[in-house]
Amino acid sequence: MKKPPGLFVPSGHPELSHRRPMQMERFLFGVCYYPEHWNELTRVHDAARMASAGINVVRMAEFAWDLIEKTEAKFDFSLFDKTIAHLAGHGISTILCTPTAAPPRWLTQRHPEILRRNENQVALQHGSRQHASYAHPLFRDYSRKITRAMAKHYKANPDVIGWQTDNEIYCHFADDHGPEMQVAFREFLIRKYANNIDNLNTAWGTAFWTQTYSGFDQIETPVSGRPTYPNPSQMLDYARFMSDVVENFQHDQVEILRTENSRWFVFHNGIMRRTDYRGPFSMDLDFLGFDVYPFFQSDPHERSHSQAFNADRARSYAGNFVVPEHQSGFGSQADYAHPVPEPDEMRKGTYASLARGADAILYFRWRTCRFGAEIHWTGILDHDNVPRRRYEELARIGKEIRVLGPELLGTSVFCDVAIATGDYDVREAHSTYPMGLPSDQQIAEAAHRSFWKSGFAVGCVHPEDDLTGVKLYIIPHWVCFDPEWVKPLTAFVEAGGTLVIGARTGGRNFDNQVVAETLPGCLRELVGATVEEYGKESANSARPKHLKLGDKEVPLAHWYEWLNSDTGTKILAKWKGRHLEGKAGITMKIREKGRVIYVGTYLDEPVTDALMPLFAKLAGLKPLLPGAPPGVEIVRREAPGRALWFLLNHTDQPVIIRNPPEGRELLTGKMLGSKKLRLPTHGVAVIRHSMEESAKPRKNKKANRKVVATRPIQLQKGS
Ligand code: GAL
Repeated sequence: MKKPPGLFVPSGHPELSHRRPMQMERFLFGVCYYPEHWNELTRVHDAARMASAGINVVRMAEFAWDLIEKTEAKFDFSLFDKTIAHLAGHGISTILCTPTAAPPRWLTQRHPEILRRNENQVALQHGSRQHASYAHPLFRDYSRKITRAMAKHYKANPDVIGWQTDNEIYCHFADDHGPEMQVAFREFLIRKYANNIDNLNTAWGTAFWTQTYSGFDQIETPVSGRPTYPNPSQMLDYARFMSDVVENFQHDQVEILRTENSRWFVFHNGIMRRTDYRGPFSMDLDFLGFDVYPFFQSDPHERSHSQAFNADRARSYAGNFVVPEHQSGFGSQADYAHPVPEPDEMRKGTYASLARGADAILYFRWRTCRFGAEIHWTGILDHDNVPRRRYEELARIGKEIRVLGPELLGTSVFCDVAIATGDYDVREAHSTYPMGLPSDQQIAEAAHRSFWKSGFAVGCVHPEDDLTGVKLYIIPHWVCFDPEWVKPLTAFVEAGGTLVIGARTGGRNFDNQVVAETLPGCLRELVGATVEEYGKESANSARPKHLKLGDKEVPLAHWYEWLNSDTGTKILAKWKGRHLEGKAGITMKIREKGRVIYVGTYLDEPVTDALMPLFAKLAGLKPLLPGAPPGVEIVRREAPGRALWFLLNHTDQPVIIRNPPEGRELLTGKMLGSKKLRLPTHGVAVIRHSMEESAKPRKNKKANRKVVATRPIQLQKGS
């Protein structure tokens, strides 16, 4: 059993589905706004300028605690009251944030004990952000107080439509080892192991290197101040604990916000480390936020794919998402600076996010700040407040969104090839014992890239999620595997699905111990083969080995497995080289209408490229728009009875698409018929399929509810 009851969410939460659209009444198009950085005259002009660019929402206050609570319990909301009202006068609603990502100096001075501590017990000082410990009871108390004060003040304000909790929890530093953390860690373990230290000793395998504990009071958070490697089971529990800490911290805030006004929507902006986004953290929210900064990838040729993969990965946690921060210009902090987005690149990035699951979008930030730690993190406007090309681009998107926004709401992203991602335990288990090997996420990204560049409708789906419509499901090496996932996967295969499982999957249980069964452990029966021998190997090893698939050579990637196939299981490829010569390396077991393929090496990009024709043939897969030029990303969003096609030109020259889907191109309003479509560099098109043309314009709410039932979000002010 993977997750003990009472502590974690049991498997199978339909609401956390990659197919879940956000339940919004209107499309939110906005900016992150910091009225505390500007004088009144500037603020007055800002609202009108935002409105004329089509902005209908701002997000504010995530770093404004010391303005709202200048000294303890003395609240002053005047700046935000005034700003919210003024923006509302221009038709702009407000999303507020709980400001706990930056606790004020009066608090850290009065209570330095709330500061987070690193593994050397050095307290993280005031002067940047995220310096307080999310587990400290006193800090949690202050967090509840500021949240309650803000929620009570704004509960009846119709212009405040929703909330973001904190800000990018754990984005900088994802550790905490202070004295309160020790207490909290022990409490967590007491709950998890039913107050029985023997249970913990067994789960952690403390018989190894004399680590046995006789009481929970002897346990500490794992730090690197040891002579050598820590216990991987302890490390995995620490990672779970770190997520549990922020789940509880956030829950305090969510509870208060919902109590004060149940019509507010609540989200958090991620996706960061040390948080299980498929657990209670997301269950508490109406949807997740995913901050999109594609220019952290400096290679322009890699950027479009990494943005696509990250959006798919974000969607695999809890469905469609808001983008609370979308990169608008070049980003920088003291030790780095991104390349500058070219004209139309922000627009293309916006459509890339919309294509892959964004149901609302806000840009970071309205204007570049003249002071502080991000003086050259570029916003829509420059320091001198002169509107230049980024503002023009924003206004163009704003105009387009008026047409496109209502069409998008209620749709899900279609994928028929899915890569397994999104499991916190699997990811963390890898990092406790990586052996210099790529993580499951790195291999997921590589396999995703292989399908993406060939134009397939590829996405990311967790094994507990809905696999409807998926023909090919790929599980890269997942070191831990829940036996409970085997049953739905068997059903997927028997109904006709093609399941591909990469090497090293199922080797450990969720205590992070190696399983006692012959590998692939709980997957053995489903796979119809066993692993005789395995090992790490580099591609340019002095003792070369590769897989022979027909007349094709499939390269070895990082790891080899010599397989023994059960009777009735087909050997698709054998090893060539050294002592593996002639041994099975890829097997296939037919089960009713489907098949399970086990690949005895890592599914990195060259391996997936080599195997893709076979996978596509077996699964009956076709690219989304066969014949589309390379470098054009094609994505389809759909809801019962309608489809929206996104076409994005990522190449450095104009492209001609000879066979675009028929329908109305929504950004120009033109009917496409069978005409060719030309897209300039960074050009995009969004086509509503012609079948829908005759349909009456949609009132989206009903369509939304059909897809997945969850709490519909009503914005307090209609659009
Ligand atoms: C985000 C963060 C923002 C801002 C931005 C640019 O990660 O949430 O507050 O710092 O990056 O660096």
